[in-house]
Amino acid sequence: MDIIKRLWTYIRPFKVQFILTTIVLLAAVGVGMINPYLIGLLIDRVIKGGQLHLLRLLTTGLVIASVVGSVLQYTHSYSFEDLSQKIVFSIRHDMYRHLQSASFSFYDEAHTGELMSRLTGDLEGVRSFMVGGFPTLISSMVTFIGVTAILFNMNTKLTLMCLSFSPLLAITAISFERKMERAHSDIRHQMAAFNRFIQENITGIRVVKAFAREKYEVERFRAENDEVYKKNMVAGLLRSRFGPLLELLSSMSVVALISYGGWLVMRGEITVGMMVAFNGYLWSLIWPMRNLGTLLDMVGWVISSGQRIFDLLDTDVAMPVKPDAYKPDKVRGDVRFENVTFRYGNDVVLEDINIDAPAGKKVAIMGATGAGKTSIVNLICRFYDPQKGRVLVDHVDVRDWDLKTLRRNVSVVMQETFLFSDTIANNIAYGNDNAPMDEIIAAAKAACAHDFIMEMPEGYNTVVGERGVGLSGGQKQRIAIARALLINAPILILDDATSNVDMETEHEIQQALKRLMTGRTTFIIAHRISAVKDADEIVILEKGRIVERGNHDQLLEMKGVYYDIFKDQYKGLVVEDITQELARDKEDGAVWLG
Ligand SMILES: Nc1ncnc2c1ncn2[C@@H]1O[C@H](COP(=O)(O)OP(=O)(O)O)[C@@H](O)[C@H]1O
Ligand SMILES: [Mg+2]
Repeated sequence: MDIIKRLWTYIRPFKVQFILTTIVLLAAVGVGMINPYLIGLLIDRVIKGGQLHLLRLLTTGLVIASVVGSVLQYTHSYSFEDLSQKIVFSIRHDMYRHLQSASFSFYDEAHTGELMSRLTGDLEGVRSFMVGGFPTLISSMVTFIGVTAILFNMNTKLTLMCLSFSPLLAITAISFERKMERAHSDIRHQMAAFNRFIQENITGIRVVKAFAREKYEVERFRAENDEVYKKNMVAGLLRSRFGPLLELLSSMSVVALISYGGWLVMRGEITVGMMVAFNGYLWSLIWPMRNLGTLLDMVGWVISSGQRIFDLLDTDVAMPVKPDAYKPDKVRGDVRFENVTFRYGNDVVLEDINIDAPAGKKVAIMGATGAGKTSIVNLICRFYDPQKGRVLVDHVDVRDWDLKTLRRNVSVVMQETFLFSDTIANNIAYGNDNAPMDEIIAAAKAACAHDFIMEMPEGYNTVVGERGVGLSGGQKQRIAIARALLINAPILILDDATSNVDMETEHEIQQALKRLMTGRTTFIIAHRISAVKDADEIVILEKGRIVERGNHDQLLEMKGVYYDIFKDQYKGLVVEDITQELARDKEDGAVWLG
């Protein structure tokens, strides 16, 4: 019932069309009931009674009823199709918007394949109900009531006789539906697993090839494929078993009609025409009963699909935002972490983090993989909320910020670069699609991407292949840097932004980034000393805790973790006393070659 109510909210905008279409449908059902009666008359009056003058009238009537019936049928089936498409269009739109608003945590747990199947398979369940299930349900009900009334009106005993098989027919149809539903649900589950398998394999095809595991994957695929075959065959077997059974039971009614009806005709209780009309009506009654199973299946399908769709739409997937959220016109870019503790589920990822970065300060974060570096910067954009402590931007808790305003003021180069299947220019302008071409080019130049872009077949208009194929990791990273540069936000986050570029390019990019960082609060995550040594504060992270902090010189003097990394990276270059070397270095202002 709830599902119907929810569906109605989508039907409501097309209320008039919906009601008119239903009326046309009812009219079509009504017109369909005329023909058996006319045929009965034709047999009794014309063929048997010899009233030839009625022939033309009755045939014309039959033709008109058939033509009108067809036109009505065309009208309602077209209009239901149109309605169903419009309704599915708006549900799809709402679902997509909902998914766009969903938080990182939602996507951490969601399966892409499952979401895809809600957007496709479940919507198809709703569509097929609107276009098939609903009209069939209405017309079956009306036919059933109307025809039963007509039959009883014609002859009670004969009707009872013929319908004596119908309970059996209905029970068989319902039991068929029960079994079919289980089979269909198995098929749907198997298809979801199957789709997930295919999706994962196509995405990971490079790994498959690199490890020469094609044969193994084909074998695994064969197993899944086999399951799809088996599950479908269960349904197929049911269909082929129940089809003839239903046919048999339907024929029994006709046998009853012909034997008992024939006897009544011979006794003169009914006419032959009446018996033929009776036969016509009986079939229009048997048909909905035989389809009871399919009908219930469609109803079951729309209920379970609708449930899944509305469950998703009702789940609060977005980050909660306060109604009077902070929405300043100008953002300075002060960032502050106060006693921040953060967990994914039960795994503590960050513990008691304190960082103070007033506007314009450069903070570098170093640490092993999994230390929690990305997690720290994720909290600034409020991709997640910490369990303890707070993150402040311009002295306002990020939870009090308007999310869009906050994120528009942070430029991020993410650790994993993602490019859309679009032109390079559009990829660079992704966060700022009004950017004029010369700004796009300037950003690309600053990110050392201009030269290789110009070498591509269509320069900035080259379309990046699926998942950015056709570009090296370093090239993709440079496009991602250009994308972040174009936003021109007061806060800049570089999460391992130059990990995939060679040393020489990195050095060049760093010159550009240095210019860019001026006046911006910057968080740089990097592994190379060369990338972090100019930061105002360098934070060393170990298992979610800050274990060392200070600027380059202070950290070297500490002779701790940072000093070890430094020694390691400058092996060969390093002389006995590194501090001495550094002091000299600072004096003549030379830059350490990364
Ligand atoms: N989406 C996530 N769900 C659960 N755990 C995560 C998620 N992202 C990261 N982690 C875990 O949190 C820890 C810190 O990860 P991360 O901040 O990405 O580290 P880093 O960037 O320093 O390599 C790791 O142990 C990682 O396994
Ligand atoms: Mg990381």
